[in-house]
Amino acid sequence: MKTNVYILCGGESVEHEVSLKSASAIINSLDRSKYNAYPIYITKEGVWCNLGLWNKKIEEPEELISESSDSIIGSMGKLLTCNYKEGERNIVIPALHGTKGEDGTIQGFLELMNIPYVGNEVLSSAVGMDKIVMHDLFERHNIPQTKYIPIKMHKWMEDEVETYSMVEKKLSYPLYVKPANLGSSVGINRVENREELEEAFKEAFLYDVKIVVEEEVIAREMQVSVIGNDHPKASLPGEFIMERPFFDYNAKYIDNKIIPVVPARLEPDVMDEVRKTAVKVFRALNCYGLARVDIFITDDNQIFVNEINTMPGFTPLSMTPVLWEATDGTTYSQLIEKLIELGFERYEQKKSILRTRCTK
Ligand SMILES: Nc1ncnc2c1ncn2[C@@H]1O[C@H](COP(=O)(O)OP(=O)(O)O)[C@@H](O)[C@H]1O
Ligand SMILES: [Mg+2]
Repeated sequence: MKTNVYILCGGESVEHEVSLKSASAIINSLDRSKYNAYPIYITKEGVWCNLGLWNKKIEEPEELISESSDSIIGSMGKLLTCNYKEGERNIVIPALHGTKGEDGTIQGFLELMNIPYVGNEVLSSAVGMDKIVMHDLFERHNIPQTKYIPIKMHKWMEDEVETYSMVEKKLSYPLYVKPANLGSSVGINRVENREELEEAFKEAFLYDVKIVVEEEVIAREMQVSVIGNDHPKASLPGEFIMERPFFDYNAKYIDNKIIPVVPARLEPDVMDEVRKTAVKVFRALNCYGLARVDIFITDDNQIFVNEINTMPGFTPLSMTPVLWEATDGTTYSQLIEKLIELGFERYEQKKSILRTRCTK
């Protein structure tokens, strides 16, 4: 029997378009002798559109865009009652990034439905999305990172000047100001003085009620993919060379000004250390399936973990597939198959756990 793969894409996040690119590549890669592909497009308003069984090749990611006059709840209910093939081998790939895709909400929904899915679960997704909780957990696990301060909006509003002074007392410029929960560098600013700090606070608080301020790390940026459940493995690291001062939204998605170098130019022992650190991060966050760990390496080879992405980009040019190809020759479609199998493996493992008290 073929496995039914439901690919969720689009969604309410700022990374809607990236998600469509990831999903198109995933759909195109699925071996149709083994899998039925059912893309589900989620509009920017959150309405689920069933695109049915999909057999043709996607040339442009926009082909996945659809419309519906349904309500959010109506659209989800219909989809699940009409199109989910009860009793067959089913799995969902949430090819969604950012808010309501990578933050544990969709994962919680799938848990409630008792549907197997690819990738991280509620806990790791939620923690990975919240830069403050993530930093705190890194600290607890002695994972090297830059100095940071979390700030709540109400504290800032109570006394703005005092908040800026506190930041300046504890950290040294240049600083990065970031909303706690977002992605794609939206709302993030690099600042060098009080005036810029004030502006950056105002902008970051547009996007969240808590923000994080970090000291700048002057370093090269590496990415490592980690894949597995109980025995996660790290890929070779890749690095980016860029012309901009930091990976802002334009650099990431518009200008194509970031040049990937795989594997990263590192001494073998540093390379090993980077890979070990990535696995440590994966375990610290209780990850399952996959994650991409972003790491800074200074010129004197110090490691600082920047962040973890629990549903990294999956276009053919995204680091995750590129890194695995370079590490052990895994092709894009083999990688997707592996992630599907890991999703089923974890589902079976969870199914075997008792939910009620053992009376023996
Ligand atoms: N503390 C820092 N020091 C140096 N550069 C940073 C720092 N924080 C962020 N950056 C730069 O900003 C980019 C985006 O920040 P990041 O925290 O990764 O946000 P996002 O979750 O939106 O990807 C990073 O890729 C890096 O180029
Ligand atoms: Mg990042």
